Amino acid sequence: MKEEKTPLLSVKGVTKVFHNRRGIFKKEEIYALKDINLEIYEGEILGLVGESGSGKTTLGRTILRLYHPERGEIYLKGKDIFSMGKEFCKRVSVIFQDPRTSLNPRMTIKEIIEEPLKIHGYDRREERVKEALEMVKLPISFMNKKPEELSGGQRQRVAIARAIVLQPDLIIADEPTSSLDVATQIEIINLIKSLKEKGISFLFITHDLRTVRNISDRIAVLYHGTIMEIGRTNEIFENPLHPYTKYLLSSLPVSHPSKRGEVESVEVEDRIPEKGCPFYYKCLLKVEECSKTVRRKNINGRYVVCNLY
Ligand SMILES: Nc1ncnc2c1ncn2[C@@H]1O[C@H](COP(=O)(O)OP(=O)(O)OP(=O)(O)O)[C@@H](O)[C@H]1O
Ligand SMILES: [Mg+2]
Repeated sequence: MKEEKTPLLSVKGVTKVFHNRRGIFKKEEIYALKDINLEIYEGEILGLVGESGSGKTTLGRTILRLYHPERGEIYLKGKDIFSMGKEFCKRVSVIFQDPRTSLNPRMTIKEIIEEPLKIHGYDRREERVKEALEMVKLPISFMNKKPEELSGGQRQRVAIARAIVLQPDLIIADEPTSSLDVATQIEIINLIKSLKEKGISFLFITHDLRTVRNISDRIAVLYHGTIMEIGRTNEIFENPLHPYTKYLLSSLPVSHPSKRGEVESVEVEDRIPEKGCPFYYKCLLKVEECSKTVRRKNINGRYVVCNLY
């Protein structure tokens, strides 16, 4: 992965607003994504972390074209994804959190994996299904089974086989290991790493810091719809720049208390200012301007949204 290369995917200034009804007349606007900028390069796993409600799934669904953003553009190899045709669905696929609900219980494993091939009019379908099963290390004999006959980990492998059968460039994986036990999580993580080695890029969404550290080349930290920081995995963990990232990492166990960094956060009600930095009320290092504006900086290939820099 070389970051000077043209990105596989570029998200530019994406803002997504949900309009929720509150009572009969009142409408509430939720800015689920605020001016998001990020890139995913060929053959890399970009981890996306953030607490519940920070907008991770919304960003994944927007990249999948399931939501249309109010502002901003998304490009896949330089093409605007919203003006691409069916080709987009071949190039970008998805793995969801829970394979119990993402696989149709009435279909056989063969039918599930074959479905995208049928939709896109591929030939040699059985052969391709077998190849996909092999890539996810499931026996060919599973083709005639139904999802209910499989374990959670095996079902997730089927979901991955379906996601790779059209040989996509990018997979959006939304908490793909969260419903699995620890041993099975490790198996699925290793499988995703092996697919990366074959050239598939991933946006790996999780709230689990240990998983994201294990799997990602780079990490983007999301907070209340804003990307706070993006950097290489070891840089984020060893030298987090944003006070929010430091706060997030402070929840991880450390080998010795001396290794615990300062926690730059105060416990206050979870609210965010209308303008400026969303971490304003919680941040111990804030200055007055943080409630009004926030600077974005690129520092040696790292991106940070904070007035400290
Ligand atoms: N379809 C929707 N309609 C209205 N509001 C929504 C919708 N989807 C998400 N939201 C709101 O947008 C914000 C971001 O939600 P999102 O599901 O993207 O968060 P998340 O980071 O994936 O959380 P989790 O870790 O719990 O999965 C939340 O405030 C949520 O309530
Ligand atoms: Mg989510």
